Amino acid sequence: MNAPAHQNDASDVILEARGLVQVYGGIRALDGLDLTIKRDAIHCIIGPNGAGKSTLFKMLMGVERPTSGRVLFNGQDVTRLRTFARARLGMAIKFQAMQVFQELTVYQNLFIPLRRNYRPRAIPDQAAQVLAQLHLEGTESQLVGDLSHGQQQWLAIGMSLAAEPTLLLLDEPTAGMSPDETDLTSEIVKSLQHKGVTVVVIEHDMAFIRGLNSPTSVLHYGRLFAHGSFAEIEQNEEVRRIYMGTL
Ligand SMILES: Nc1ncnc2c1ncn2[C@@H]1O[C@H](COP(=O)(O)OP(=O)(O)O)[C@@H](O)[C@H]1O
Ligand SMILES: [Mg+2]
Repeated sequence: MNAPAHQNDASDVILEARGLVQVYGGIRALDGLDLTIKRDAIHCIIGPNGAGKSTLFKMLMGVERPTSGRVLFNGQDVTRLRTFARARLGMAIKFQAMQVFQELTVYQNLFIPLRRNYRPRAIPDQAAQVLAQLHLEGTESQLVGDLSHGQQQWLAIGMSLAAEPTLLLLDEPTAGMSPDETDLTSEIVKSLQHKGVTVVVIEHDMAFIRGLNSPTSVLHYGRLFAHGSFAEIEQNEEVRRIYMGTL
C-alpha cells in the first residue's frame, strides 16, 4: 500500500531525479543524472554550457519526456505526468527564455496565470501581493516592454508564482541583469525560501551563487559531477578545472 500523501510530505526530500537520460539525435544531453532536492531549501545548479542544466529542468517539469529515468515529487512518481498536472501538485518553472508578453501591461500579464487559480474578484489583490514580493509594486498599468530587463525577469518569476507553488525552478534568473538587480533577485529568492517555497536555481553568476550560499550541484556532460556546500564546490579542484579558472 502506498504511504498517505501527508506522510510523504513529512519527508525532507521534495524532489528527486533518478537515472535521468535524455538523448537528442545521438547527443546524450542527460546521461544517467541523479539529484536530490531538500524541502524548504535553496538549491543551486551550475555547470558549463551544454552540461544539460536546462534539459534537466524540462524533464523535472514534464515539458519533455526523458528517454529513461524517473522524477519523484513529494515521493510520487510524476515521470508520466504532463506539465499542467505537475503544476497542480505544486511545481513551477521560469524558463531560461523569458515568457512575458511585451505588448501587454504588467497586470494583463499576471492576469493570465492568476485567472486559472482565483475567482475574478480576488485577482487584483493577488496581483498586488505577487508584485510586492518582486519589488514591482505600482507597475500594474505599465507596458512590460517599458520595464527594465531585470523587472521583466521578476515579472516572469511572478507569473510562475501565481499558482502558489511549493517548488520553483529558476533557469538563469539573473542573466542580463545589472549588479543591483542581481542583488535584489538574491533577496527575492531568499524571501521565497522563508515563505516555504523550495527554490532550485540554475546560474552562471558565481557572485550570485556565493551570496545564496546553499547546497550546490555541478552538472557536466549530463551527469552529477559534484555536490556539496558552495564553499566545498568552490574549493573542489576538479570543478575548478572544468570551469578553467572562472570560479
Ligand atoms: N531540443 C534539443 N534538440 C537537440 N539538442 C538539444 C536540445 N536541447 C538541448 N540540446 C543539446 O543538449 C545539450 C544540453 O543542453 P542544455 O540542457 O540546454 O545545456 P545547459 O542548459 O547546461 O547549457 C547541448 O549539447 C544541447 O545542444
Ligand atoms: Mg541552459
